[in-house]
Amino acid sequence: MRQVGIGVVGTGVIGRKHLQSAAALLSIRTVGTTDLREDQARDAAALYGADKVYATADEMFADPEVEAVVLAVPAAGKTELALKAIAAGKHALIEKPAGMNAREVQQLIDAQKAHPSLIVGCCSSRFRYYESGELLRRRIASGELGELRMLRTRGVWPAGKAPETAPPFWRLNKSVNGGGIMMNWGSYDLDYMLGLTGWRLKPVRVLAQTWQVAPHLNARVAPETDAETHVTAFISCEGGETIVLERGEFTSASRDETSEIIGTHGSLLFRMMPGEGKKIVYNETNPLDGVRSSVIWSGDEDFEVLHTGVLWDFADAVINNRPPATTLEQALLIQQITDAIYLSAANRRCADIG
Ligand SMILES: NC(=O)c1ccc[n+]([C@@H]2O[C@H](COP(=O)([O-])OP(=O)(O)OC[C@H]3O[C@@H](n4cnc5c(N)ncnc54)[C@H](O)[C@@H]3O)[C@@H](O)[C@H]2O)c1
Repeated sequence: MRQVGIGVVGTGVIGRKHLQSAAALLSIRTVGTTDLREDQARDAAALYGADKVYATADEMFADPEVEAVVLAVPAAGKTELALKAIAAGKHALIEKPAGMNAREVQQLIDAQKAHPSLIVGCCSSRFRYYESGELLRRRIASGELGELRMLRTRGVWPAGKAPETAPPFWRLNKSVNGGGIMMNWGSYDLDYMLGLTGWRLKPVRVLAQTWQVAPHLNARVAPETDAETHVTAFISCEGGETIVLERGEFTSASRDETSEIIGTHGSLLFRMMPGEGKKIVYNETNPLDGVRSSVIWSGDEDFEVLHTGVLWDFADAVINNRPPATTLEQALLIQQITDAIYLSAANRRCADIG
């Protein structure tokens, strides 16, 4: 069986998940690892059976044995690495967010144009590898919801106990992550909703608001935090559809993780997050009874698919020379919406997308 030889740049939390997934996938062979912290790269290579540890990413990109790279590093500096990887002729899977902003993602698209045979994908597709997602996609594509009106997605978590160790500083730092929870989780929300609807919506304008963690809950975030922990956005699309998004962590709100896609004739109520006892509810309308609800799917979903799914898709895309689940053009749209959300929140007025 054809195996894609990969190198993993960044062997922190998510780099290790990629290495673990690679070890479980027959379509992948891990050639080596690299990290700014060489001890960490060495430890990860030993743990997940990678042969080589490179002193630098440049060294990895120069190795002909490495056919593809996974860039599992924070947003700042990721584009520079991706541009080098593409220039070196490597397929690349880029952790989300795809860049610090849309300008960086556009740079990647321009670079890929010079190497059209390379597969470059973004990990924001992570939640779309489940049976429930595939079922939702098919039901929406069938047209049974009628004309789409609203895509509503809400993922809000209450503050837990103050942590014993400081959280990683990059997560909520504008200069390293490009932003806060919108970059971290909003990228998944947009990818999921736009992906489920077949990437056919054309978002044009945004009205958004962001908030930082409330001062009395400051212990939940690193001292360098300057980005939002809570965001809400109303995104209008060319065809009159709207996307209403809310994401929050360390809030005073009750936990809620529900999404709904509402059309003229029917709606689907579901949860993006995997877990036990998940359900998809279909609300169907008819002139006599109004809405009739039924559970059209229920089941338990394994969290590990989040990691194996995205890597499996990438290797399959390389082997079969097909687009990955989230292409750079799709990642650009997500980033353009994100940039417009930040602009709208900063200016307290609507912002155009793109
Ligand atoms: N932590 C998660 O659960 C998670 C999940 C999905 C996606 N992500 C995304 O993955 C990225 C990394 O997150 P993480 O949690 O693994 O961070 P992390 O801090 O645990 O690990 C990042 C690693 O990258 C290394 N690194 C940074 N720049 C490098 C460079 N130029 N060359 C080599 N190594 C470099 C760091 O030394 C560090 O070990 C972020 O963009 C994040 O949004 C994280």
